[in-house]
Amino acid sequence: MSTSPPLGTVPPTGTAPLLSAETLKVAFPGRRGAATARAVDGVDLDIRPGEIVALVGESGCGKTTLARSLLGLVPPTSGRVTFGGAPLPSTGRALKAYRKRVQLVLQDPSGSLNPRHTVYDAVAEGLRIHGYAGDERAAVSGALSRAGLRPAERFFLRFPHELSGGQRQRVVIAGALVLEPELIVADEPVASLDASVRGEILALLLRLRDELGLSALVVTHDLGLAWNIADRVAVMYLGRIVETGPVERLLTAPQHPYTRALLSVLPEAEGEPVVLAGEPPDPSKVPSGCRFHARCQVLASGEAERAGVAEECRTVDLPVLNGGGDTQVACHWAAARGGTP
Ligand SMILES: Nc1ncnc2c1ncn2[C@@H]1O[C@H](COP(=O)(O)OP(=O)(O)OP(=O)(O)O)[C@@H](O)[C@H]1O
Ligand code: SF4
Ligand SMILES: [Mg+2]
Repeated sequence: MSTSPPLGTVPPTGTAPLLSAETLKVAFPGRRGAATARAVDGVDLDIRPGEIVALVGESGCGKTTLARSLLGLVPPTSGRVTFGGAPLPSTGRALKAYRKRVQLVLQDPSGSLNPRHTVYDAVAEGLRIHGYAGDERAAVSGALSRAGLRPAERFFLRFPHELSGGQRQRVVIAGALVLEPELIVADEPVASLDASVRGEILALLLRLRDELGLSALVVTHDLGLAWNIADRVAVMYLGRIVETGPVERLLTAPQHPYTRALLSVLPEAEGEPVVLAGEPPDPSKVPSGCRFHARCQVLASGEAERAGVAEECRTVDLPVLNGGGDTQVACHWAAARGGTP
């Protein structure tokens, strides 16, 4: 990868965020005396209007738990989520209204669709739940068209098994769009699809951002996918965001050793892939110091020692990043080289 330019040259846009996590924590109590799993362990994250943010990290790092918490589906242990500056409602009608404005799109379209419901019913379901008083048929038709299923009427009476995987995911997206949300949270939206249709679904999300001003949080373990779709990337490791910034910046000049390791295994990467040492992360055993230190290639190679930060790496935890739009990194070594701690 290229050498790192100084940090902080990308100014924050100053636009008020639509959705914000503020020092959000979600812990799951361990069964039969096992330690608590700190699945989300202090996350600040902003999503601004019309912005696509990719949340990236390996399996088990807390992406889905964070996404569900942003939707009000998992209560935070501490911290809070705000939408349009107001705290998320926790119960009743207000929460239902919130879930209309922020829609979840899941990984596996087959699992999200009832096999006995037609496409029409699948898309109309949200309208019925929310007591939509307008022209249901027109709304369903419009949503299917926006999701790229045209002419929409041709799909009304089909069942999920009569569709391709890509078409099924479009139906799921239409079911979200029909409620005219301001933000979509898509959890691994293309992971179960063939490579050939992944690009089409990602292009659809981009088009919806451009045409409708829709914001999106796209959860993925694939940094390559983030490259194709995101305005901004947040890299998560063991319940924390460890690096965030505009996509171009983060992918061409990554600061955090974990981001560098993730990028090094992409097919288009130059140089040797970084093999991470140690055990896969376990949220019931968050290490002291930098939570990545037991696996960090920069610490293992002696580079952190040479920069005079190895002791800090092992003993001093890093502050929660502020979640804004500028480039930020949680790493003692990156800070010693001119980044922000
Ligand atoms: N309901 C739960 N009860 C206990 N532990 C949970 C629960 N949900 C998630 N976890 C744990 O929290 C951690 C984070 O899980 P999460 O599903 O958020 O990860 P993820 O990043 O989405 O992973 P993947 O990429 O595999 O989907 C994991 O260790 C998981 O086992
Ligand atoms: S703080 Fe130290 S151990 Fe952690 S990622 Fe940076 S260099 Fe590696
Ligand atoms: Mg997940």
